[in-house]
Amino acid sequence: MVSYKQHYQGFISQHPNSLHLAPHSHHYWPDVTRQAQLDYWTDSAAGVDHKWDTIFAERIPAVQRGLAQLLNHPDPQQLVFASNTHELLYRLMTCFSAEQPLRVLTTDSEFHSFSRQLRRLQERPNVRVTTIATQPFASFPERWLAAVKTGGYQLIFISQVFYNSGVIAPHVSDWLPWVEPSTEVVIDGYHGCGAIPTDLSAVADRVFYLAGAYKYLQAGEGCCFMAVPKHCQLRPEYTGWFADFANLAKPQAGPVSYANDGYRFAGATMDFSALYRLQAVLDWWQGDHLSVDQIHQHVQQLQRACLQVLSELNHPLLNESNRLHHAGADHGHFFTYQLPTAELVTELAQQLAAAGIETDYRGDRLRFGFALYHDASDYQQLKKALQQL
Ligand SMILES: Cc1ncc(COP(=O)(O)O)c(C=O)c1O
Repeated sequence: MVSYKQHYQGFISQHPNSLHLAPHSHHYWPDVTRQAQLDYWTDSAAGVDHKWDTIFAERIPAVQRGLAQLLNHPDPQQLVFASNTHELLYRLMTCFSAEQPLRVLTTDSEFHSFSRQLRRLQERPNVRVTTIATQPFASFPERWLAAVKTGGYQLIFISQVFYNSGVIAPHVSDWLPWVEPSTEVVIDGYHGCGAIPTDLSAVADRVFYLAGAYKYLQAGEGCCFMAVPKHCQLRPEYTGWFADFANLAKPQAGPVSYANDGYRFAGATMDFSALYRLQAVLDWWQGDHLSVDQIHQHVQQLQRACLQVLSELNHPLLNESNRLHHAGADHGHFFTYQLPTAELVTELAQQLAAAGIETDYRGDRLRFGFALYHDASDYQQLKKALQQL
């Protein structure tokens, strides 16, 4: 099995005795991102105000192209950046008038950026939400399709990979034919992009796709993006001056106008150093011909190795009956163990942390993530730690 550890020496050397089982939460940054961070400084020093020319004319288009290639998206200019996904999804939500009824279809397993915002919007009397439980996973595709077919929604929002289980949602092309043309569809691809081979070519003109660089794109916080369907004419109420950059010199009177590409969903001034880091990661992958397919296969091998270690231990908690998964289906890049109580989870996570094993947990769920910077032999540290508990 190939090892990729040499690409992550900066982070690994800071934690020589740790097994970082939380890349699904905060991925280590590969070494190429260090120079990228310095390049941002140098471009700022050299260009001062003119650095924006470089950012808008060179850096943003390069990252748009790199991401479009990664996702097989036909129109790079439909990708818009922001510091976090919440900003982008809220911008989309403000396209729906607060005076009009809003019907939303979603699941019970969406990340807080969306679910908390939606709960707040539900305080309005005219917002109605249909929430489909992701468990049992085996029947979810059927239950989801039935809910989609019911129709009457202004917005459908679902993850590509559910953050609280790692289970992969049914592919959007499986249910999109039943969505009414007037419904906006958003896929939260944060746990998919850079991890699960993703091809948006067939749905790019119809769905919004959200993701960011903090996890599998390995570039840290500050660079999220949304792919906006081509010909989208929505007018976000929460809008910033980057959303119509080309026309800023014209008199600003009459109806507010928007760019005719993804940038109609742009905000305002942001720190683009994360975009530089993301460009470095994408360039590294492209230069080394490292595809998401290969990354996924590597992670799948690591996952099998970890499961082997746990099955040898016959662990009373970390076993197949407590691991959330959809039997026989492809899975995301982390495992989730649902234990009888949140206290047990906290205790186990703390014991593992004391043995140098970093995991992450929420409530009664303990998550183990996998990444290119692991080798299968690393899980011996997990075995030893669990044997000693
Ligand atoms: C599914 C999912 N979406 C989005 C995010 C990040 O959201 P934001 O960029 O709004 O902080 C996360 C972070 O953990 C996530 O798990």
